[in-house]
Amino acid sequence: MMKIKVMSVFGTRPEAIKMAPLVMELAKRSNIDSLCCLTGQHREMLDSVMSIFRLHSDYDLNIMQKQQTLSSITTRTLLGMEEVLSEAKPDLILVHGDTSTTFAGALAAFYHKIPVGHVEAGLRTYDQYSPFPEEMNRTLVGDIAALHFAPTDANAQNLRKEAVRGEIFITGNTVIDAMKTTVRPDYRFATEKLNRLDFSERKIIALTCHRRENYGQPMHDIFRAVRQIVQTHPDVEVVYPVHLSPVVRECALQELGGMERIHLIDPIDVEEMHNLIARCCFVMTDSGGLQEEAPAMGKPVLVLRRETERPEAVAAGTVKLAGVAYDNIVRLANALLEQPEVYDRMAHAVNPYGDGNACRRIADAIEWHFGLRSEKPENFQAQVK
Ligand code: UD1
Ligand code: UDP
Repeated sequence: MMKIKVMSVFGTRPEAIKMAPLVMELAKRSNIDSLCCLTGQHREMLDSVMSIFRLHSDYDLNIMQKQQTLSSITTRTLLGMEEVLSEAKPDLILVHGDTSTTFAGALAAFYHKIPVGHVEAGLRTYDQYSPFPEEMNRTLVGDIAALHFAPTDANAQNLRKEAVRGEIFITGNTVIDAMKTTVRPDYRFATEKLNRLDFSERKIIALTCHRRENYGQPMHDIFRAVRQIVQTHPDVEVVYPVHLSPVVRECALQELGGMERIHLIDPIDVEEMHNLIARCCFVMTDSGGLQEEAPAMGKPVLVLRRETERPEAVAAGTVKLAGVAYDNIVRLANALLEQPEVYDRMAHAVNPYGDGNACRRIADAIEWHFGLRSEKPENFQAQVK
């Protein structure tokens, strides 16, 4: 039987979370030899995901440096991939999303004339500096890829509009597949601080903030707004697992440190995070992934960014673009905390991003592309509510 070699290349926490269910699906296919190459763009945060999903790596470039620059991530990945690709000679490389690992991994494959499959393709703001550098990373990979796995119909439409080369499949987002295994009603937190939270009597806000375009003044303004929200609502507590980036940690500590009802904790593993979202009151975040996960659990989200490449949940009413200005963030959070009708309007579960079968569709599409399967997978169709 003909077997193809598929190498998944990833390096940051969100890529690992969203690639994990796909790597597991590929491993089940008898005609696919599945390999993992980690860049190690993140170290601790990546290793935590690998261990939760019990994944092992075949290659690890271990590129992370303290306060690394975009150029160093890109060049170290390119150089590292050189040897890996020459040795492993995969038939297909899979990259995910929009990080520097994604871009450099795809470029390295292109230099070796190895086709690239892009998972989570076609999301766009069409502002090259927002999110930065992710918008450009994702767009450039769109030019390189031979297979585009677009989560939603709108993402596929962007790619068609840009007349990208290659085939487009609408698959849903793999993060919804991942959540099938992580979210459990009887889940007990491993982090004692989370077990001690009173989710029924207190309004618990889950906060994350880490993006490069928010470094500096925007991040200070966001955190000052959070402080104000907590100070004016005695029943509110904030849980913020602070990203390991030194820039983020310094700002968080300076603006939010030492406050009784603001819990600054280290990053938590993905099971802890998903179950925290499932139980919290609402989410404030500049993360991409959380904008997909929280709506699936019926939790309102205030997005701490000027733009989003994920407009589907905004249209569905579960997500609001709060921006980065102090006044607007405080105003929107106050409305959620003080006006039950505003909260209820936002707090309904919507799944515009997937139905939990994205990985099956992607693996089927790969097999179809290589002539190992006769039928093309059906497209994911979001349920219209
Ligand atoms: C990266 C991605 C961003 C993604 C984010 C997810 C790029 C350009 N950015 O940004 O798209 O949203 O990951 O979290 O690809 N660090 C550690 N240990 C870790 C992880 C990070 O110490 O496990 C520290 C290091 O000092 C590192 C710094 O965080 O230099 C920044 O990491 P980096 O990957 O460059 O940027 P992120 O902001 O994490
Ligand atoms: N996440 C996690 N632990 C944390 C914070 C976030 O497991 O302490 C998860 C979150 O649920 C989501 C992903 O990490 O699946 C998002 O990653 P991040 O915010 O770092 O990147 P982005 O999605 O913005 O690219």
